[in-house]
Amino acid sequence: MKGVILAGGLGTRLHPLTKVSNKHLLPVYDQPMITYPIRTLVNAGVEEVLLVTGGNNVGEFIRLLGNGREYGLRWLSYAYQEGVGGIADALRLAHEYAEGEKIVVMLGDNIIEGNILSAAEKFQATDSGAMIFLKEVENPREYGVAVCEGDRVALIEEKPREPKSNLAVIGIYMYDEQVFDIIADLRPSARGELEITDVNNAYIERGNMTWEMLDGWWGDAGESIDALYRVSALVAKGGANKLCL
Ligand code: G1P
Repeated sequence: MKGVILAGGLGTRLHPLTKVSNKHLLPVYDQPMITYPIRTLVNAGVEEVLLVTGGNNVGEFIRLLGNGREYGLRWLSYAYQEGVGGIADALRLAHEYAEGEKIVVMLGDNIIEGNILSAAEKFQATDSGAMIFLKEVENPREYGVAVCEGDRVALIEEKPREPKSNLAVIGIYMYDEQVFDIIADLRPSARGELEITDVNNAYIERGNMTWEMLDGWWGDAGESIDALYRVSALVAKGGANKLCL
């Protein structure tokens, strides 16, 4: 499966740290943030990654990551997102790169304690569709939140004022090639962005979405300065991207 890491955006929730730097280059304990999702994908058996970024710091990513070999990748490509059109807009840039293969997409500020290898193998073995990961959280208002009917995810609500569960949809998604047709049909949300939650809801409507609960801790290090600090402390205490929990 090919990997895509999305590392654009303005990172305004981390001002002033992100006034001069892309948030994904900020340190999380002893490593730049972007290196953690790369490890997650490498641990899931991914050998090839497309990194989508934008803004003023794109050159710094190449300086840090080079051709990706140091991080266990066979091939690392880069794409440039113009403006800030949202996560699904950034993903659109992976269309030609994916060449009709299934892809695993990870947000560049998401960090996990464990790994997603068995889920990736399960998804590879399915014919079609998408897979998301859920994690219980204390502050669901900050995320995409699953609305469940029994064992089924019936809908995902993006940053709801009154969340219907405490299950956040974390920033790791697996898609078949339909994802690019779905993105082509999306309309911008109220905040003017193409939302990944709308992509996931389209798969749910088609009855083509599966989900897994994520083991171990999960952090969205780009959510706030507090979150960056919390995730750094978790990494310092026990490390991230463990092969066994
Ligand atoms: C994005 C998604 C949200 C998801 C979160 C995970 O939000 O829109 O559904 O729960 O990532 O990190 P963002 O953090 O970009 O606002």
